[in-house]
Amino acid sequence: MKVGVLGAGTMGAGIAQVAAQAGHQVVLVDVNREVLDKAKGNLVKVLDRLVEKGTVSVAGAAEISERFTYSTSTTDFSACGIVIEAIVENMNVKHTVFKELESIVSEECILASNTSSLPIASIGSVLNNPSRIIGIHFFNPAPLMPLVEIIPAVQTSQEVMTAAKQLIDSWKKITVLCKDTPGFIVNRVARPFYGEALRIYEEGLADFATIDWAMTKLGGFRMGPFTLMDYIGNDINYTVTESVFTAFYYDPRYKPSFTQKRHFEAGYLGRKSGRGYYNYAEGIVQPEP
Ligand code: NAI
Repeated sequence: MKVGVLGAGTMGAGIAQVAAQAGHQVVLVDVNREVLDKAKGNLVKVLDRLVEKGTVSVAGAAEISERFTYSTSTTDFSACGIVIEAIVENMNVKHTVFKELESIVSEECILASNTSSLPIASIGSVLNNPSRIIGIHFFNPAPLMPLVEIIPAVQTSQEVMTAAKQLIDSWKKITVLCKDTPGFIVNRVARPFYGEALRIYEEGLADFATIDWAMTKLGGFRMGPFTLMDYIGNDINYTVTESVFTAFYYDPRYKPSFTQKRHFEAGYLGRKSGRGYYNYAEGIVQPEP
């Protein structure tokens, strides 16, 4: 089956790599040609590393690369059996693209969203055939993180749910079925991890590096909350918090932080912009006090 991925940013590029490594022809589409070029360049580097490690043969790496079509036009999705959307976390934009996608793909094509927090039922509401909508939520970095949340909406057919789950299982991921509720499982559980860390900082109890140090060295977490938010991107992380907060009828447990909002507004998005809670231009960050 040919797999379409819309959005070649952090998540889309990773999801496309997973699909290609599983043997699918992949069409990767982004509005921005530079992002596509970057995704292509990164794939070459990743495959070189896999060859060096002996995970993939030289011929295997070449085959994976050849499975890719890079495009700025969604019309190239016309022969895909599934399209996974991984663009900006904004419902209006997602509505526009899903309407467009449905006009291009076949009647059988599954339409999936990698949204972190938006209701799948609402994304599907703009489709003529909403039974084909499903949430398929990968984690960052998609090629390395084993878990994928599968989120059927109220409109999703049993066939689509089963087919989506089987497909992602065949990509050697561990799938978990989730209800279509704000933040699904992982992003809901993770809200207090980020939110309390930001509150500790705002209350003047400790700085970013000290909190990260405590959580990793003493708490046993692989990444501290500020390192992780910088990794995810403060734009995405703030938007998800705001969306979960709103969706839970402004439950104060999920209240977003002004500190994070100001970082987002300043363009301090994290690793991808070179600066977030840490300044990555200064070299490797040692989040220790
Ligand atoms: P990103 O900002 O890295 O990439 C988004 C890409 O979409 C950009 O390259 C942009 O040019 C492209 N784009 C925007 N509008 C478009 C359109 N109309 N048509 C085609 N391409 C378009 O964002 P990221 O981090 O990859 O997130 C994408 C989605 O995945 C969001 O819904 C986010 O909530 C979700 N997600 C993000 C995770 C993360 O850790 N960053 C983890 C899991 C899900």
